[in-house]
Amino acid sequence: MNLAAVILAAGKGTRMKSKLPKVLHNLCGAPMLSYVIDAVATAGVKKTVVVAGYGADLVTREVEGKAEVVFQAEQLGTAHALMQANQNLKGFQGRLLVLCGDTPLIEAETLSLLAERHQDTGAAATVLTAVMQDPTGYGRVLRDGRGRVARIVEQKDASPEVIKIREVNTGIYCFEPEELFKALNRVTPRNAQCEYYLTDVIEMYVKEGRPVETVMAEDPVQVAGINDRIQLAEVEQHMRGKVLRDLMQSGVTVVDPFSTFVDRKVRVGRDTVIHPFTFIEGNTVVGEDCAIGPNARLVDTVAGQGVTIQNSVVMGSSISDRCFIGPFSYLRPGTVLEQEVKVGNFVEIKKSRISDGSKVPHLSYVGDAEIGKGVNIGAGTITCNYDGRGKWPTRIGDGAFIGSNTNLVAPVEVGAGAIIGAGSTITKDVPEGALGVERAKQSVIPGWAARKKKNSDRNDKPK
Ligand code: UD1
Ligand code: CA
Repeated sequence: MNLAAVILAAGKGTRMKSKLPKVLHNLCGAPMLSYVIDAVATAGVKKTVVVAGYGADLVTREVEGKAEVVFQAEQLGTAHALMQANQNLKGFQGRLLVLCGDTPLIEAETLSLLAERHQDTGAAATVLTAVMQDPTGYGRVLRDGRGRVARIVEQKDASPEVIKIREVNTGIYCFEPEELFKALNRVTPRNAQCEYYLTDVIEMYVKEGRPVETVMAEDPVQVAGINDRIQLAEVEQHMRGKVLRDLMQSGVTVVDPFSTFVDRKVRVGRDTVIHPFTFIEGNTVVGEDCAIGPNARLVDTVAGQGVTIQNSVVMGSSISDRCFIGPFSYLRPGTVLEQEVKVGNFVEIKKSRISDGSKVPHLSYVGDAEIGKGVNIGAGTITCNYDGRGKWPTRIGDGAFIGSNTNLVAPVEVGAGAIIGAGSTITKDVPEGALGVERAKQSVIPGWAARKKKNSDRNDKPK
């Protein structure tokens, strides 16, 4: 079937009380509008038009390459919004799906079902309806004595009788476009909100004897609209559940779905276990057989296979197979860990490459560093990469051993196999195989402690 779609997304979303256009508010790491666009594309729609208005420049940037955008300068209602797409659909031969940008749980299957029913019945309009436990805020579907749809009444225009109706308009429809655009011209704003209601087209069709059909959504959750931030949170919860169910179905263990937050674009390999209180965000990819969490946050990070990350924050990093991170590590953007690297507790790493089998087990800061294979970085080692003006690199060769509490004052290089004595402040390059040590001479004074005690005991006596 030849399908086009118009997504209405020009409203400010007054009830959100936000500077950001409503349709760009995030759900599981992606703007709500992107979910509607994806559903439409999955349903096989080739031509999608988004009606933008409030924050149109931001909306345009978001849909770039995925949809055409038309501008609705003044938000005069859903009928007026849809009219703006008339030009874009001139000459289009096929059926038109109309959706709202604030209904992001809608699934492609439901859209296909709606379009098929529309085609099979030869209707002029087909409305996707749903029976809601709590229909507050939605337009209600009024039916005649024979159960056929008569009209749609907005909550604000509804009598107490009508308010009791629980079958609602989802704001998703299928139309014959030519007929529709003619009808839209005849809609008037005679209602409580003084808006041009798209829903008035339904009553108009019924009165003119044009066939109007309905399809009832099996799952009302799918068509939940977001008008305020409470609904945003409710829909986000459903979305999160969906993301986690998909992961579990693909072979990932999610120990506690209630305390696990995974963004939609994230990919996780089989037999990975995600422990509680974990956030996996952005474009993160986690391989197979990993253990993530508890208490982990991964953002835009790629992790290989068999990686362990506990109680740590990892951002913009690349982590190869069998690395062990945490507890309490902080990996900042530009960190690259090759295979079997260990990063331990209270270690921060920034923009550094650490090669195969190296270890930074405790209490270190490593920034702007290139660390070779099989290097051991002792507890408390710091790369002093910043001199107040610029950032400088530290290079450490394969197999080097950096003693505890070393300051590596960059730019500085430690050669392969070199050893740095604990407590050194290294300001000069240390060649391959050498010992670098910078330490004041230690004094040992026998019996000093006892003499000191005796002295202070005497002085402490009351006079
Ligand atoms: C609308 C329907 C209602 C339905 C509900 C489903 C109308 C009159 N009402 O109500 O029957 O139950 O959706 O969620 O159609 N928009 C524009 N330009 C405008 C006005 C709105 O583009 O001038 C867009 C909004 O950005 C939004 C969508 O249309 O994405 C729906 O508008 P909204 O104000 O949320 O309508 P509802 O009151 O929810
Ligand atoms: Ca709405």
